[in-house]
Amino acid sequence: MSSPASLRMESVTVDFGGLRALSSVSIEIKAGEVVGIIGPNGAGKTTLFNVLTGLVTPTSGSLYINGQARKWPRIHELADIGISRTLQGVGLFGELSVSENLLVGATHSQKPNLFLALFGLNGRTEGLAKERVESTMRQFGISQYGAQRASDLPYPIAKRVALARAVISNPTTLLLDEPAGGLGAEDISWLKDFVLRFRRDRSVLLVEHHMDVIMSVCDRIYVLNFGELIAHGTPDEIRKNPAVIAAYLGGEATE
Ligand SMILES: Nc1ncnc2c1ncn2[C@@H]1O[C@H](COP(=O)(O)OP(=O)(O)OP(=O)(O)O)[C@@H](O)[C@H]1O
Ligand SMILES: [Mg+2]
Repeated sequence: MSSPASLRMESVTVDFGGLRALSSVSIEIKAGEVVGIIGPNGAGKTTLFNVLTGLVTPTSGSLYINGQARKWPRIHELADIGISRTLQGVGLFGELSVSENLLVGATHSQKPNLFLALFGLNGRTEGLAKERVESTMRQFGISQYGAQRASDLPYPIAKRVALARAVISNPTTLLLDEPAGGLGAEDISWLKDFVLRFRRDRSVLLVEHHMDVIMSVCDRIYVLNFGELIAHGTPDEIRKNPAVIAAYLGGEATE
């Protein structure tokens, strides 16, 4: 594993036709930080992740990794840069088993290509990948579900498998899009512990509506509203920020 990188996105604007989803947004994740991105529904949080992971090309804006300007990464370059993500909701391959889903994540290609994952490896690499799948399933407490189809899993287990699939490639920067969404108190508590353990030597960018999760694990928080960055600060600063309070009271209230 390489050491975590600092990432900086500067003046990122994304237009979808006439809709400006992000308007000159700048954010930075320093190595080893947990950085939160919050904001009401439709604020542009997932779009920001999509820009950083090659799913959306911004209209304008720049990316710096460890201070060096570079092109926006393409999906297949993410593993080399050390970036991995979960999708909002679950985003597993429903027809595949849990261990097959993890194998896709383990083969260092972020392309959803099971064929490559299973047959594009030589015997030794395949053995290592399978060992890694086993140990990751143990680490996430999901070994007993290994042979189950992802679409048959209870929701909290599916969320945990999605997290395991993102982590198995050993990323140095992990992007989590609403990892606590739909979970109960026990799973949320597990998730908080997971984020705090992970950040001991790596970085996390966390999009979340659960304010208790954001406030208890983030070092710094950025707040988006209608594609604009309206605030940035520590959890305490954000909690008291009038613009943030107004954005949440004016939009959909979240816990
Ligand atoms: N591919 C797309 N094409 C057109 N519009 C899009 C696309 N992706 C997102 N949008 C729009 O951009 C805006 C920001 O969406 P985004 O999904 O980034 O919001 P979000 O902050 O993640 O919201 P939520 O909390 O509901 O997940 C929304 O108005 C959305 O409808
Ligand atoms: Mg979203």
